[in-house]
Amino acid sequence: MSDYEYLIHTTDLCKSYGPHMALENLNLKVKKGATGLLGPNGAGKSTFLKTMLGLIQATSGEGQVLGHDIRTEGPAIRSRIGYMPEYDALNPEMEAIYQVKYSGELLGMNPTVAMSRAHEVLQYVGLGEQRYREIGGFSTGMKQATKLACSIIHDPELIIADEPSNGLDSVAREFMINTMQNMVNAGDRSVMMASHLMDDVERVCENMILLHKGKLAAQGKIADLKDIDREIEIHVWGNASKLEEKMLSIGMVVRREGRIMRILHESEDITTKILACAAEVGSQIRRMHEYEASLEDLFIVIMENLGYEIKTSEDLLRSPVHARQVDAPGHMGGGS
Ligand SMILES: Nc1ncnc2c1ncn2[C@@H]1O[C@H](COP(=O)(O)OP(=O)(O)OP(=O)(O)O)[C@@H](O)[C@H]1O
Ligand SMILES: [Mg+2]
Repeated sequence: MSDYEYLIHTTDLCKSYGPHMALENLNLKVKKGATGLLGPNGAGKSTFLKTMLGLIQATSGEGQVLGHDIRTEGPAIRSRIGYMPEYDALNPEMEAIYQVKYSGELLGMNPTVAMSRAHEVLQYVGLGEQRYREIGGFSTGMKQATKLACSIIHDPELIIADEPSNGLDSVAREFMINTMQNMVNAGDRSVMMASHLMDDVERVCENMILLHKGKLAAQGKIADLKDIDREIEIHVWGNASKLEEKMLSIGMVVRREGRIMRILHESEDITTKILACAAEVGSQIRRMHEYEASLEDLFIVIMENLGYEIKTSEDLLRSPVHARQVDAPGHMGGGS
């Protein structure tokens, strides 16, 4: 076993497809545990994961996965990592058990061991009963579970999953997320999962990496990144527009939806200031509490605040006020 400080470590990593830069100067450090890889369509998530597995070659820069060089040690990396690809690579005519066994054999396991492990992992992903059925008749959720079983047959220390809950109905999605959580918490394995679904990432992952157009937009602990973004929510009775104007005029950062406003928690005396403003314009504050931002809120704020520079949580800390000048996300009724 090689020694390593980070599961994944890249230095100025670039990947281009012809003239198109899919990954640009990525400097990443991924620690043990669960990390969500976020970013809009085409951000470079799948390209990044495949580059880490040595399945596609980086154009320039360096990378190590579990201490192995991505340029020269692809096979060693793949033998220690479980990879659940974005697209279906399953054989519809195979029974699940043989498909899973086969992926073990491809990794060099002996057929007997591969078979006994195939039974175990199919059970683990919830397909114990269906293991002798042909994959062609499986639902999307069962196919995703089969892909997961294939990826964990050799009990890897790191599982890389590209959109694991994509296309699943709520029951299958719940099961997939529970399985991921279980691998991390009870199984003490690390996971890196690419996803569009903030809720899924938030439930499984402690850390996140956000890519945008091939560049690093943010990396860090989700809790730390969210913490810089604290807001006070107030429910206002009377003169809401006047109150909003007043608060804006003294430099407070306010997001308003009707009688509900969220004010950036930029100083310790923020509640005193809010109450003073309300008294001055004759508004009543019916409720006042800390608003807990979701990962979705954070995502939108970061995306708005990008400027195509690297934003670590520290960078964001330096410009939280600026980061707040956005509409509320759609699910909170904000503008599009
Ligand atoms: N084989 C390829 N040849 C040329 N361009 C490619 C290739 N694969 C990906 N790209 C381009 O590279 C960029 C990153 O693609 P990638 O699939 O890594 O994004 P992604 O973040 O995984 O997107 P999605 O959320 O849609 O899965 C996109 O602009 C894509 O069109
Ligand atoms: Mg992708």
